[in-house]
Amino acid sequence: MKRYRALAEELAATIRAGTLRPGERMPSVRQLCRDQRVSPATAMHAYEALEAAGYVESRPRSGHYVGRAWQTPPAEPRRTRPPAGSTRVEISELVFQILEGVRDREVVPLGSAFPSPALFPWARLARHLGSSARRMDPWSTVKSLPPGMDELRHQIARRYLAFGCQVAPDEIVITSGALEALNLSLQTVTRAGDTIAIEAPTFYACLQAIEQHGLKALEIPTRPREGIDLDALEKAIGRHAIKACWLMTTFQNPLGATLPEDKKRALVKLLARHEIPLIEDDAYAELHFDEEPVKPAKAFDEAGLVLHCGTFSKCLAPGYRLGWAAAGRHAQALQRRKITSTLATSIPIQHAISQYLAEGGYDAHLRRLRQALAQQHAAALRALREHFPDGYRVVPPAGGYFLWIELPDDVDALEVHRLALHEGISVAPGPMFSARGGFRCCIRLNTGHPWTDELDGAVATLGRVVRRLARGK
Ligand SMILES: Cc1ncc(COP(=O)(O)O)c(C=O)c1O
Repeated sequence: MKRYRALAEELAATIRAGTLRPGERMPSVRQLCRDQRVSPATAMHAYEALEAAGYVESRPRSGHYVGRAWQTPPAEPRRTRPPAGSTRVEISELVFQILEGVRDREVVPLGSAFPSPALFPWARLARHLGSSARRMDPWSTVKSLPPGMDELRHQIARRYLAFGCQVAPDEIVITSGALEALNLSLQTVTRAGDTIAIEAPTFYACLQAIEQHGLKALEIPTRPREGIDLDALEKAIGRHAIKACWLMTTFQNPLGATLPEDKKRALVKLLARHEIPLIEDDAYAELHFDEEPVKPAKAFDEAGLVLHCGTFSKCLAPGYRLGWAAAGRHAQALQRRKITSTLATSIPIQHAISQYLAEGGYDAHLRRLRQALAQQHAAALRALREHFPDGYRVVPPAGGYFLWIELPDDVDALEVHRLALHEGISVAPGPMFSARGGFRCCIRLNTGHPWTDELDGAVATLGRVVRRLARGK
């Protein structure tokens, strides 16, 4: 167990035992460092974990105090039960309508999929963009055609090592964000009419890709902490001609779930036995709250069947549209698709990101970003406890910036969305993440913004909306 987790667990046990009672002051960070021989970062992390679980409350300029919320934690969302059988998907209209509401800067962005721009190193990126454009060898516009700039592919391959993954630069194709990598992967391994296994719920862009390419979705049940149910997937493989799986095995969007390592290994083995490619969407890989990164399923791939899709959009440079696919045995086919669809990924952007990575400082930026996201998560969970009526379900994820909230069964998430938007607040309603309009009582909240009184007030307003809808039935 990580040191901060062990420390948080020790302190939680002391609170549960009644040695430290609600309202009492917790040891200061400095005192914890001295007594427990841990670094300030470990002590802070431990307090964030305790705060997320309701064991402590932090009071500005005063320190940490024992809270009460741990005595009645919200329940976990239930295992999902999508209808059996594959289906065509018609989701785009609903998704576009809802996304339209999120674009307005005046709207509180709890429904947005984007983290706050305030968390990213714009000035340094701009410097690299300027200097790389000035210094760029015009011949590199030819040399960096797909699979993409050599140096950048080497840098990405080296970063995989920290995730316990051996990826050769040769299997990496640079793309315009993860979304292009995912779409190219899907086109590479399927044809119109094929059936694709996906998680229920899943990221709406996955549903839109399935719709757009004339495929059929087979929704597989998931658990809120661990993600896809492998037994259900195995049964589905026995019954359907599944041509590919598109899964998010780490910090799943929208659930926040992470498939444990042994299950990732089992997943890859199961799919290899049936020669089914896995399109692994790992857009949030760098946003882990633990010090250690989480291994992707790709780390267990011996057959070259995992097409692992990554991006800098969520962790470094939103809007630069730089991502990649590490496509295993499908790399060459994917590269050809890339050439026939958009030819190349913007070359000055490839140079700029490569130069940023070469200069150093990326890891320091990531540490700050992860810490900010963990704090924001804790603040959002605290706001939910304070403002939401009892009966909602949630699991604090170990990374990313989403919270998936299951509301009481009689609360309609589309109504929550409509009424909240009326109050200038967006939420992402559950049906956006379903092939068949399911998850009617679920919403996804974005915690990717520094926590402010405005956000706290928005959660309070949402709480009132939920209470009203729950009573109105
Ligand atoms: C799960 C998931 N995958 C992929 C993407 C797309 O990433 P990119 O912006 O790099 O195309 C997103 C963006 O919201 C996402 O949430």
